[in-house]
Amino acid sequence: MNNNPIGVLDSGVGGLSVLRELRAQLPAESLYYYGDGLNCPYGSKPLWKVEKYVDKGVRQLKKHSIKMLVVACNSGTAAAIDFLRNRYDFPIVGMEPAVKPAAIATRSGVIGVLATANTLAGELYRTTAARYADRVRIVPCVGTGFVELVEGDREGTPEALEAVRRVVEPLLERGADQLVLGCTHYPFLAADIRAVIASRAVDLVDPAPAIVRRVRSLLEEHDLVAQPGYTPLYRFFTAADDHYRKMLRRKSGFFDQ
Ligand code: DGL
Repeated sequence: MNNNPIGVLDSGVGGLSVLRELRAQLPAESLYYYGDGLNCPYGSKPLWKVEKYVDKGVRQLKKHSIKMLVVACNSGTAAAIDFLRNRYDFPIVGMEPAVKPAAIATRSGVIGVLATANTLAGELYRTTAARYADRVRIVPCVGTGFVELVEGDREGTPEALEAVRRVVEPLLERGADQLVLGCTHYPFLAADIRAVIASRAVDLVDPAPAIVRRVRSLLEEHDLVAQPGYTPLYRFFTAADDHYRKMLRRKSGFFDQ
């Protein structure tokens, strides 16, 4: 048993979509969240830079004796997962677009994968996509402007709906009945995406529940589960300013504001 916190990291607020699921499924675990904020977005920056930014965040979390790290960022995983696994000795969970469940669930045989440019160019995604390419048609697509909208707190605005429509409508026209949310910022736009989907039978595939299952099994395997009934701590860190840190707290939905 181990009551130390799990560290969760993203370029900004996106990883909070994973943090919420962690809290819901693992209520005794302390969760320390690092949302860079200063160097966001990671999805379009050179990989070597992203690796440096991610490592800075991990070093910050490590000061608080994290027992495990969740890189709640597909772009950060694409850039830095091997580097992190070589450098740190705690278990590390990374993220990649959930192609497999979408390939299993599709009825039309077409799945859309929404992610950042770095994720779609990454080794991890390309290997997975190639594995399913003979069974389903995979249409990758960058969610242009999505991260900026979520960072700017502009979900649910006419501007967000328009940006989502520009990206999602062509996928629907190509027959996609599964939309994989391959960036942790995108679940914040789920209502906008559903508005564009309207009455079509199209599913959104959010990988957060699968990530939490992986975290749970690693905690058990390494004997790191928190004591049942332990009162957990939630803390927020950033490379940006205190205003941003407060936004992380607010967008987590964990506290009364
Ligand atoms: N939320 C991140 C991801 O899952 C990063 C997006 C970005 O910073 O561009 O890819």
